[in-house]
Amino acid sequence: MIAPSILSADFGRLGEQVAEVEAAGANRIHVDVMDGHFVPNLSMGAITVKGIRPFTKLPLEVHLMVEDPGRFLDGFVKAGADSFIVHLEVLPDPRPMIEQIRGMGKKVGLAFNPDLAVEKIEPYLRDIDLALCMTVFPGFGGQPYIPESTGRIAKLRAMANAHNPACEIEVDGGIDEKTIGEAARAGASVFVAGSAIYSRASGATAAVKHMAALAAAK
Ligand code: DX5
Ligand code: ZN
Repeated sequence: MIAPSILSADFGRLGEQVAEVEAAGANRIHVDVMDGHFVPNLSMGAITVKGIRPFTKLPLEVHLMVEDPGRFLDGFVKAGADSFIVHLEVLPDPRPMIEQIRGMGKKVGLAFNPDLAVEKIEPYLRDIDLALCMTVFPGFGGQPYIPESTGRIAKLRAMANAHNPACEIEVDGGIDEKTIGEAARAGASVFVAGSAIYSRASGATAAVKHMAALAAAK
């Protein structure tokens, strides 16, 4: 599953950029939301989801890199979001949030940063659709993949197999032509990629196809 992150897209023609990756075979669109508190950057909000919604039938996955995710869910649902990924770091007990998102009829993912022990997510694997192992510290596109991530992905996949084999394992950050195979072999099944798709001279179409082939070949 390839999930292009529109953080690296050309915002002057966002609709076109989303339609292009859908036509190329991307599986979902990853929307990176930053609040300037949980991460040291600002990005986009529900208005962006509303803007791109008419341009694609693909699921819109909202990655909430924010301190208080509950405040924003409603606006994103109204704008056309299909799933949410929230960070374990800001949720001492993520269960109420998981239930809130499910109550809205949306899929739910839990993300965790490179410095959080993977075991911390174990108690919740049964209750989520997706676990997102950050492979960079979130906040900016274009950072290099942290090599220690590979072992963390493998550990996460093994834990998910024990508790909830249907749980998707997503990776986000520095996923490109060089790292996607390694992440796939470790057990990741959903690959977020921003710069490796939207900043390639060969164009987004070729990049999606190439990345999908590399993920499938493992
Ligand atoms: C990290 C974001 C990522 C980011 C990935 O802050 O959550 O989704 O856009 O960008 P690349 O693929 O360029 O590392
Ligand atoms: Zn993301």
